[in-house]
Amino acid sequence: MKKQLYIKTYGCQMNIYDSDRMADILAPLGYKTVNQPDAADMVILNTCHIREKATEKVFSDLGRLKPFKDKRARQGAKTIIAVAGCVAQAEGEEIIKRAPYVDMVFGPQTYHRLPEMIAQATRATGGVLDVEFPVEPKFDYLPEASKSPGVSTFLTIQEGCDKFCHFCCVPYTRGAEYSRPVAEIEQEAKELITNGAQEIILLGQNVNAYHGQGVDGSDEWGLGKLMRHLATLKGLERIRYTTSHPRDVDDELIAAHRDVPQVMPYIHLPVQSGSDKILKAMNRKHTVDEYRRIIDKFQTARPDMGFSSDFIVGYPGETEADFNDTLQLVKDIQFAQAYSFKYSPRPGTPGAALEYQVPETVKAERLQRLQEVLRTQQTKFNQKLMGTNQDILLEKPGRHEGQLIGHSIYQQAVYLKAPKNLLGEIIKVKITAAGLNSLAGVYASG
Ligand code: 5AD
Ligand code: SF4
Repeated sequence: MKKQLYIKTYGCQMNIYDSDRMADILAPLGYKTVNQPDAADMVILNTCHIREKATEKVFSDLGRLKPFKDKRARQGAKTIIAVAGCVAQAEGEEIIKRAPYVDMVFGPQTYHRLPEMIAQATRATGGVLDVEFPVEPKFDYLPEASKSPGVSTFLTIQEGCDKFCHFCCVPYTRGAEYSRPVAEIEQEAKELITNGAQEIILLGQNVNAYHGQGVDGSDEWGLGKLMRHLATLKGLERIRYTTSHPRDVDDELIAAHRDVPQVMPYIHLPVQSGSDKILKAMNRKHTVDEYRRIIDKFQTARPDMGFSSDFIVGYPGETEADFNDTLQLVKDIQFAQAYSFKYSPRPGTPGAALEYQVPETVKAERLQRLQEVLRTQQTKFNQKLMGTNQDILLEKPGRHEGQLIGHSIYQQAVYLKAPKNLLGEIIKVKITAAGLNSLAGVYASG
């Protein structure tokens, strides 16, 4: 069902234009404009500050809206009242003071953040936003935790996201960040292990923002502490987690990589861009330098740590120089693996409303250049293991007779010949071949 949006526009031509833009930005969130405020789910007064009288008019209109809001509240419906435009800019505090039932006040510079503000206002009352984002699973995908686990299996510990990166629809589609209590996770982990799981991959849209209720009942635990605890479960050989955000990497997480042998020396840590200007525009909440320092800290804690990342090329405003900064970062860090995407504007997200969208041809060309560097790095990373003995968790039979497939500590697929009764074991394998996507080896220990 569509939500009703009532916008009242005061003043100049500029405001009329802005009101139309706000309606456009909100349409993908399910809002349809109506001509009456009585039954509206959202009312925006797009104000004008040109004369004192105009300001007073806003306050008297707000006074008239209050009974509608109260009436709908008694019926269990929520009305978001927002004041936008120049009065909002000039008298934000005064508005909240005189009309405390106003939910949002925002000036003309922040219209692109409207979806985020609405999502947050909706969440504040326990509501969920029904959105109409076009589905694009590659950007919004988490594997399903399975009921009959394999040797390596997923366990969801966290859902949703509060980061609101300006290209991403997850905070709208998946809602607010939520962490499951440790006791619940532990129970599920035990069941998975009983059913044969040797490796558990902890899942969350923003997994290292994890802050679940600890088992001692008191304070919340972070991901590092959770993994330390899970590592005490008998039979659990390997722990991984995905996907992380640089902003949520803390010392406890890094220390877990240093101290806990079950925690694999590998992290998927999306950076998206190597340009501070673009990271800021993306609302990523971290700089390139902060990202580099996090990588350094992991390397100090675990010198053999492997890194994986996500990249977006052609975010609105990305210049050739910005893109070269991304290439430079990639060259400096040397990733083990990475995903990269052309920026795809998702209607309803702030990025889609930006000017200076990068032409498709430029995006395609940059993506090709980036992927070439990433492929070379990935191959190099794999080839570095040639001739070494690696611990491989054997997970399933391969397609060929006598062949088994397992994974290295870096999650590389490894093909080898070994007896089937070794499935589920971790064995030493000497790596004899390495390509872009997999390794081959021979069973080295008896
Ligand atoms: N355009 C391109 N890539 C996107 N991603 C998410 N949203 C978009 C988008 N609109 C990518 C990010 C994220 C990964 C899961 O998908 O790199 O980390
Ligand atoms: Fe989307 Fe990840 Fe950013 Fe959250 S942190 S908004 S899931 S890209």
